[in-house]
Amino acid sequence: MQTLLRTIYDDVKPLVGQGKVADYIPALASVNPHQFGIAIYSNQGELFQIGDADVPFSIQSISKVFSLTLAIKHYGADMWQRVGREPSGLPFNSLVQLEYENGIPRNPFINAGAIVVSDMNQSRFASPHYAMREFVRRLSGNPDLKTDQVVADSEYEFRHRNAAMAYLMQSYGNFENSVEEVLKSYFSNCALRMSCVDLAKAFNFLANKGYCSISKEQVISEQEARQVNALMATSGMYDEAGSFAFQVGLPGKSGVGGGIVAIVPNRFSICVWSPALNKVGNSSAGVAALESMTKHIGWSVY
Ligand code: DON
Repeated sequence: MQTLLRTIYDDVKPLVGQGKVADYIPALASVNPHQFGIAIYSNQGELFQIGDADVPFSIQSISKVFSLTLAIKHYGADMWQRVGREPSGLPFNSLVQLEYENGIPRNPFINAGAIVVSDMNQSRFASPHYAMREFVRRLSGNPDLKTDQVVADSEYEFRHRNAAMAYLMQSYGNFENSVEEVLKSYFSNCALRMSCVDLAKAFNFLANKGYCSISKEQVISEQEARQVNALMATSGMYDEAGSFAFQVGLPGKSGVGGGIVAIVPNRFSICVWSPALNKVGNSSAGVAALESMTKHIGWSVY
């Protein structure tokens, strides 16, 4: 596995820095684009890592998988009345579909869907962001995970598009709490800082039939874990989900901080990180690294 990581790293290194660091969130614009790390955590509890795998970064939309998991734990199948399970085929922050479809977002991984999921968690927890951070600290076995308040505040200051989605959903009756409070929780979740090592560990439960071997808990049922993986495979990479299935063939979830987590069911979870993004907002080197990985292991869910 360590040799495989070295091969992928050397294959992809020349691409690192290609693309553009997310700058629509001003606090993210200053990240050095030349960083690159990979970590793998196997179902046997082995950790493999290379490059900047210990450097914490803004997890951004990867947090949507954690908030979805928390909501599934509480609401089970009822949650699908408020959010769909279909790929959107549109950018992650698109507004148009939301009006055509009466304020029900297509899936929990576009921003509108994740904001509705945050609203569900807001109804359930007194401090939804702290609940989610404690949950992720437990899954990753890292009690020191921190929220980057500067990033969270910057996102809140420039929240106009996300706020428009949330108020539109509220106008259709698909919102239970104060829009502004829910947005603050949602941005704080996105602003959590984790390294590739933390993320590979925290996603172990999705490779392991819903059981987290770090916290030693059945996080969600085996069937629910399969469903979250299916949603990642169809919607985790936004309007690049089709190409990602074609080129990589694994459930994956990206964030505009440059991280991508992917799952090889029953074997391992992997996180790659490099901050420069392609046109749809996924890490360019990250996608290339995962493509190289599945080519070398000769295995995909398809
Ligand atoms: O709400 C936003 O736009 C960001 N906090 C998260 C977007 C994101 O990571 C989309 N990912 N590719």
